[in-house]
Amino acid sequence: MEVSECFTLSNGVKIPSLGIGSSPFGGYSHEAMVHALKHCKVRHVDTARKYNNEHLVAKSIQESGVVRGDLFITSKAWPTDYGYESTKQAFRESLQQTQVDYFDLYLLHWPMSPDGTNTKKLISESWRALEELYAQGLCKSIGVSNFKISDLENLKETWTVIPQVNQIEVHVFNYPKELIDYCNGLGIQIVAYSPMGKGKVLDYHVIIKMAGKYGRTCSQVANRWVLQHGLATIPKSTKCSRVKENCKVFDFTLSDEDMETLDQIHITDYHCVVDLSTVRFDRL
Ligand SMILES: NC(=O)c1ccc[n+]([C@@H]2O[C@H](COP(=O)([O-])OP(=O)(O)OC[C@H]3O[C@@H](n4cnc5c(N)ncnc54)[C@H](OP(=O)(O)O)[C@@H]3O)[C@@H](O)[C@H]2O)c1
Repeated sequence: MEVSECFTLSNGVKIPSLGIGSSPFGGYSHEAMVHALKHCKVRHVDTARKYNNEHLVAKSIQESGVVRGDLFITSKAWPTDYGYESTKQAFRESLQQTQVDYFDLYLLHWPMSPDGTNTKKLISESWRALEELYAQGLCKSIGVSNFKISDLENLKETWTVIPQVNQIEVHVFNYPKELIDYCNGLGIQIVAYSPMGKGKVLDYHVIIKMAGKYGRTCSQVANRWVLQHGLATIPKSTKCSRVKENCKVFDFTLSDEDMETLDQIHITDYHCVVDLSTVRFDRL
């Protein structure tokens, strides 16, 4: 596989297996994004309304010279956008900010409501909005993010389109196998966010040892493990050299035994990197 190689979603849409994240934590680097697109041939870009950087992503894409049709762009609606009309409005604003006339993938960012009430109804209405945008061709695929099995079971009661993607936190400290298996059973592709645990897995002794064995870096082992599980990965770096390094994961294979070793690192009581107590649902 090469950086441009893809997984195929349940609706036939191709998603590049390796993309680049743009989370505002640690800052947005225009230089790194342009480098990823222009020099590393990354064609999958992840942003979100909450990141408040869709306009910066647009500028980087423009400077890279890569044409829209060659890109796979994801954005997401934040819980304060939820509800049928307001999700559509948020979608339109995201299109405008990103300077595109469609998204390749549009997600509901969290299975939550801003005030913790009526969550199931609010999400169901928001999903109906996404189904309509999808039917209109304004997003080529639709999905969810941070949805657990119970959240998907709730949505299942009213969905007419099964989400094509669930974007969730996956790295060697956090390997939610049951959720991944459940999604696989429904044809829902997993996109793994924080594949390096926001950098935290990179100094873990098992990863360091494995990197030495393969003559690779820790980030390459971390991303390779994700890809070999059939999950798309969207590592983020603000540094061009690291972006390049993170892309060089298609010319080696971890053995079955080493995959198994990495699977076992999973910490059962691992708390997701995003501490929900710090997530604010203020209006954007
Ligand atoms: N759907 C969601 O709720 C959600 C939540 C979180 C993230 N995401 C998405 O997933 C993307 C990736 O996740 P993430 O940004 O949280 O974490 P990540 O990609 O796992 O890690 C990013 C961190 O690792 C460092 N890093 C990157 N490459 C490195 C390398 N080769 N060597 C050493 N350090 C390296 C970066 O620092 P430097 O910048 O200094 O290199 C940064 O601190 C996000 O940017 C965002 O687009 C989605």
